[in-house]
Amino acid sequence: MHSLACPAAACSGDTVCMATITYKDLEVLFTRQQIAERVAEMGAQITRDLNGEKLVMVGVLKGAAPFLADLSRAVQVDATFDFVATSSYGKGQRSSGAVKLIKDLDEPIEGKNVLVVEDILDTGLTLSYLRKLFLQQRPKSLRIATLLDKPSRRLEKIEADYVGFSIPNLFVIGYGMDYAERYRNLPDICLMTPDHPE
Ligand code: IMP
Repeated sequence: MHSLACPAAACSGDTVCMATITYKDLEVLFTRQQIAERVAEMGAQITRDLNGEKLVMVGVLKGAAPFLADLSRAVQVDATFDFVATSSYGKGQRSSGAVKLIKDLDEPIEGKNVLVVEDILDTGLTLSYLRKLFLQQRPKSLRIATLLDKPSRRLEKIEADYVGFSIPNLFVIGYGMDYAERYRNLPDICLMTPDHPE
């Protein structure tokens, strides 16, 4: 059971309001505490692997934003940020299958250590596309960090170098992940069930 305080300024708390109806009854898969602990471990591992070298962290918008913000503070190296955006799931839980670049890197990555930061590795179509695109620029190293991994859904042969949690075929929301652009700001990762009211 997950509950958030009603964000409506005028809400007295004793009236029925859409915000509380929307958030109640969501099942939490990973709490904010579990996420924080795992992200700290991932940051420590990435720090060790970099051996004092600089890093460019490339976040895949929009879902990876909270993860990148937290992971970057757990990585103790000289790091810069860049962001890309690709076409995503649209408004439902199904992918169209096609990946399109909507926003490219701001800076060249040739000769740099690059860490692609993604919220969830699902079919692998997005990260396979991005990996191919980025390798064309000849970075010094290219690694992938994903908070969640759904290996059973893979269509492309790709693995992340750093995985927060491996999960079965579930649709999740929160901590950056959305359903039709909503729920990204939930602090915990929750399950989206097909019968959940939109
Ligand atoms: P892939 O290209 O199929 O690997 O999909 C990657 C993208 O799909 C992720 O960055 C998410 O934006 C989206 N996605 C996949 N599974 C989920 C989910 O369970 N919840 C929310 N978004 C998801």
